[in-house]
Amino acid sequence: MARRMLIVGNWKMNGLIETAQALTEDILSGLSARVARSGSVRCEVVLCPPATALYAVNQRVGGSLVRLGGQDLSEFESGPHTGETGGGMLRDVGCGYVIVGHSERRSGWGEDNARVARKMAAAFRAGLQPIVCVGETLEEREQGRTLEVVRAQLEALFPCLPPQSDTRQSLVVAYEPVWAIGSGRHALPEQVQEVHGFMRRILLERLGEDGHAIRIVYGGSVKAGNAGSLFALEDVDGGLIGGASLQSVDFLAIIDAVPETF
Ligand code: 13P
Repeated sequence: MARRMLIVGNWKMNGLIETAQALTEDILSGLSARVARSGSVRCEVVLCPPATALYAVNQRVGGSLVRLGGQDLSEFESGPHTGETGGGMLRDVGCGYVIVGHSERRSGWGEDNARVARKMAAAFRAGLQPIVCVGETLEEREQGRTLEVVRAQLEALFPCLPPQSDTRQSLVVAYEPVWAIGSGRHALPEQVQEVHGFMRRILLERLGEDGHAIRIVYGGSVKAGNAGSLFALEDVDGGLIGGASLQSVDFLAIIDAVPETF
């Protein structure tokens, strides 16, 4: 079963409305030029600006081939949760996706596997496609615990997955080794394939055919220079891009690295 490649820009806590709009414009015109040249873009493209810029970015991407995503959501729908954003609110502002359980939230805000799973369920309830992040720390890798850690992060999701096949299939899993994020040191292709292949086997074991459709993307120091070798791997269905998504030239070059066959 062919999975459509997915390239997600996670802008993290960067940019004001004006810079977000300018970056969006540059990405959109770069994509339009590619469509004019070759008829299509080889992947789905999602932009995840900071919450304060979502509305403004949505004004620009509406009707284009670019989709909008949030960077986090509350596990609750509404109520006395000061500072939180509900999934329905993200839908309201134009999001189709939301990142869940990014390591910067797991480590900085104490999000454990159970809460990440509840947030994923909240995203599905709101009609959003969750992009759930998993990945080991450097210490865990050095202790030889990478697969054990990733398995636990993935297994925690299954009880919270909705029963409908088409909804489950819309899940995206992002493998982001913590030591590769923002470090300039991406995981080696063989390390990436080992973990992605391992997760694919678990998804197939637990979900049967639905496990084939779920996309597994890689994140952690993806740049134009290494994207091609990572995206060519059998079980890599795209990328979750941090730093390099903040410059349109770099982000577009990463999109260009998506292989022809997809
Ligand atoms: P970098 O691409 O800056 O390493 O960030 C990766 C990331 O955390 C994307 O969510």
